[in-house]
Amino acid sequence: MHTSTLFRGRRDILFDRLPGRAILLMGHRQVPRNYPANPYPFRQDSTFLYFTGCAVPGAAALLDAEGRHTTLFLPSPDPGDELWHGSVPGAVAIGAAAGADEVAPRDRLSERARALAARRGGALLGLPVCEATSQAELAALVGDGVESGAVTGPSADLADAVISLRNVKDGGEVAEIVATAEVTARAHRAAMAATRPGVREREIAALMDAVFAAAGCAPAYGSIVTVRGEILHGVPGAARLESDRLLLVDAGAESASGYATDVTRTWPVSGRFGDRQRAVYEVVLRAQAAAIARCRSGTRYRDVHLAAARVIAEGLGDLGLLRGDPDRAVEEGAHAMFFPHGVGHLLGLDVHDMEGYGDRAGYPPGRTRSPQFGLSYLRLDRDLEPGTCVTVEPGIYFVPALLHDAAFRRRFRDRVDFAAAEGWLGFGGVRIEDDVIVTSGDPKVPTAAIPKEIAEIEALVGSGPDPGTRLSG
Ligand code: GLY
Ligand code: MN
Ligand code: MN
Repeated sequence: MHTSTLFRGRRDILFDRLPGRAILLMGHRQVPRNYPANPYPFRQDSTFLYFTGCAVPGAAALLDAEGRHTTLFLPSPDPGDELWHGSVPGAVAIGAAAGADEVAPRDRLSERARALAARRGGALLGLPVCEATSQAELAALVGDGVESGAVTGPSADLADAVISLRNVKDGGEVAEIVATAEVTARAHRAAMAATRPGVREREIAALMDAVFAAAGCAPAYGSIVTVRGEILHGVPGAARLESDRLLLVDAGAESASGYATDVTRTWPVSGRFGDRQRAVYEVVLRAQAAAIARCRSGTRYRDVHLAAARVIAEGLGDLGLLRGDPDRAVEEGAHAMFFPHGVGHLLGLDVHDMEGYGDRAGYPPGRTRSPQFGLSYLRLDRDLEPGTCVTVEPGIYFVPALLHDAAFRRRFRDRVDFAAAEGWLGFGGVRIEDDVIVTSGDPKVPTAAIPKEIAEIEALVGSGPDPGTRLSG
C-alpha cells in the first residue's frame, strides 16, 4: 500500500496545516543491549513511518512547509556494514521510496536544521520522543525557544496536526488492518485448537508468534497469555495449564508496514465453560455487543464505555455481586471494582495509538480524564468519526488488591457484596476485545470472525494438535 505518492500526500497536508513552519521528524535509533552490534529489536517511530515509510534506524527528516520540501537524513554506512549485515538499498532508493526531495547524511542534520529554523522564524517544531530517539540531540536542535516543548512536551501545533491525520484511517490503512486481522484470527484459532491441560502459557504464545511470522507479521505488543486474567497485562508463564481454569489471550499481529491489531479472547482450558465461567462470560459478551453497537459516527467514546459498564453492572447484580440500581452503581463507579479499566483505546500504527503524545490524542480540547476510579483509566473520549479505529474490550475480573482494599470496602459497602466476592477469588478474569473501524454507517469489526460465541469456542478448544506437535512437526 505504501508509495512515495502516499507519503508526499500526507506531508502536503501537514504543510497546509502548518504554513511557513520548519518541522523535524525523528526516527528511532537502535538501542544496544550491551555493545552496539547487539541491539534490542528495532521498531521505527510510528509518526516517522506515517510520513516517510522509512524504517532505517537513526533516520530523521526535515520538512520545510514554506518550500514544501523534505530532506531525509540517513546514517552513513560503515565500511564493514555489507560484510556483517548484507547489502541494503542505497540512500537514493530509500529517499525515492519516501518521496523525499533530497537525501543527506545524518551527521549534517544539526547544521541543516539550525539553518532552516533560522530562515523560518527561528523555531523548529518537534514532537515528544521516546527513549529510542536521541533526547539530547533533539534538545540541542530545537533549543530553548518557543517550541522547546518538543523536548518536555508536545509542540502543540505539530502534535495536533499529526493526531488529526493519524486518527482518521484512509481506505489503504483500513484494508491493511483488515488483512492483519485475518492473521490475528488464524493465530487465535490455532491457540484455541492447541489448548489443553498440561500445555504451558508460553507454548501458546510461541505458537501464535509462529502464525504471525508465517504471514510476514510480528506481534504488535507483548502477548498476554495467562490463566491469571485478573492481572490486566500479565505475561505468559512457564506453568502448565490446569483444566479448571480460564485462559485469557490478548494478542494481535502487526503488519509489515506497522499496523496493529489488538484482540482478546478468553476460553476454558478444558474446552467446557463451567457454570460460573459461563455466567461471567455471557455478561462480558453482552457488554461488548452493546458497546460495539454504540461505535457510530458522532458518538462520544465515553458513552461506549458507559454502555458496557451498564450491562456489566446489571450482570454483576444478577450474579449477586452488586446491589441496587445498576445505573446508580455505574454513576458511583462501583462496577469498576470488577471492570476497572476503560473499554478501549485508539488503534493504528501503535497498539495504543499515539499514546506517546499523552492524552492529547485520546481527549480533545475541553475534555479531560475523570478522576473517578474506572473512568480514570479510560484512555479515549473523542467523538467518533468515520475512519477512527478503536478497540472495544470490556472485562470482569476478581482482583484481590481491589476487593481487599480498605478504602474501597468502605466506599462501596452498600453496593458491593464483598462476602460474596470473596468466594470468587481465584476465578481470574474474562476480557473480550475486538477492533472496530467507525464508518458513516454500521461499525466495521475486522476481528469479528475470531470465535467468541460459547458454542464456537467449545467446539474449537483442544480440537487440534498441541503447540509442541504443531511447531515441531
Ligand atoms: N493489548 C493491550 C490492550 O488491550 O490494551
Ligand atoms: Mn486493547
Ligand atoms: Mn489487547
